[in-house]
Amino acid sequence: MTIKNITILGSGIMGHGIAQVSAMAGYKVFLRDIEQKFLDKAMEKIRWSLQKLSEKNKITSDEVDTIYNSITPIVDLRAATNNTDLIIEAVPEDFRLKEKVYDELNEIVRNDIIFASNTSTLPITELSKLTNRPQNFIGVHFFNPPQLMKLVEIIPGTQTNPQVVEEITNYVISLKKHPVICKKDVSGFIVNRIFIPLVHEALFSLDRDGVSMDIIDSAVKFKLDFPMGIFELADYTGLDVVYKASYEMNLRDKKVLVMHPKVKELYDNNQLGQKTGKGFYEYKDDNYERVNLTQEKSALYDPLSILGVAANNAAWLIENEVCTLEDLNTALKLGMGLKTEIFELVKTLNTSKVIKRLSELEKEQGDFYHPNKYLENIQ
Ligand SMILES: NC(=O)c1ccc[n+]([C@@H]2O[C@H](COP(=O)([O-])OP(=O)(O)OC[C@H]3O[C@@H](n4cnc5c(N)ncnc54)[C@H](O)[C@@H]3O)[C@@H](O)[C@H]2O)c1
Repeated sequence: MTIKNITILGSGIMGHGIAQVSAMAGYKVFLRDIEQKFLDKAMEKIRWSLQKLSEKNKITSDEVDTIYNSITPIVDLRAATNNTDLIIEAVPEDFRLKEKVYDELNEIVRNDIIFASNTSTLPITELSKLTNRPQNFIGVHFFNPPQLMKLVEIIPGTQTNPQVVEEITNYVISLKKHPVICKKDVSGFIVNRIFIPLVHEALFSLDRDGVSMDIIDSAVKFKLDFPMGIFELADYTGLDVVYKASYEMNLRDKKVLVMHPKVKELYDNNQLGQKTGKGFYEYKDDNYERVNLTQEKSALYDPLSILGVAANNAAWLIENEVCTLEDLNTALKLGMGLKTEIFELVKTLNTSKVIKRLSELEKEQGDFYHPNKYLENIQ
């Protein structure tokens, strides 16, 4: 089947972005939400974004109109889906709500149409069972904002037809994005499985090691070559996103992370990071503001446990054949901005030291830190 028409359900942060990048690649898009006012807001944002691209000479002003006009905002679900080849669901991250949406779709949409979910954390196989087409169901995880982020994780469920994986991969490539295949439907998929536990580990290290957040973040930035510190990245991502992902991931798999209570506390107090002016750090204005991280501060902290937890989860993904090493490196580069490959970092900081630190933490804190055997091969 050739995909020409796409329906996006949900016109929020992700849905309007996916609609825009799909329209820019030449697809005809139906953007569906439950109220016209949400669609109006979404279309306004799309127009603004296209105009910015035109100002930067990335597209012509004629293209602004053509792309904009190829997106049809629509409330009526039947009309939004009766001439479509692919439905991408981007409604809020709530299993019951998604169930309701799939119930409605089951009733009215032809069986051969592919359903894809943009879920960050919900199990694809379980979601697929809510539909009457588990073989035509797949996870397609865009990153925020879809207009800028080049990475898309593709997650087949246990019953997904390999041809559907191929069609969705081709769709993602047609958007000029980089697909990585998460071959097994594991908690957190690839990037969140590495990123989310790091936020908790940075907090545990804060309690244990008697250093400040900016010192840990400086070391993460300057010694691990991350684009920003872990606390800074969590504030940038939003503590609501981090908390909900932590909760869902932990619900699915108790071994994936150890929850630090501070994440929930910040979420409960609406201290969500950049967007509320306070999270781990405080922010003075609406503009994106960087924390003062320096080489000098980085000298005061050895980020062995942070790298150890990241490398351990990365090793788990490889050992369990969830993804290839190449896809792991692409995912971490494009999803988290890592400039150096994760296992190269382990070598640079010294593999034996990383394993030794994990073993010490295992003795003090428990199994979570047990060093994965795969790490021993990194020399
Ligand atoms: N925000 C992120 O950083 C991010 C990143 C990757 C993936 N995701 C995932 O993408 C999905 C959407 O997240 P979001 O941040 O865009 O949410 P959002 O709250 O910004 O947008 C969701 C939209 O869905 C609409 N909606 C609710 N019920 C609907 C229905 N029955 N039919 C159609 N639309 C409906 C809402 O009105 C809203 O406009 C979630 O599964 C989330 O986990 C989010």
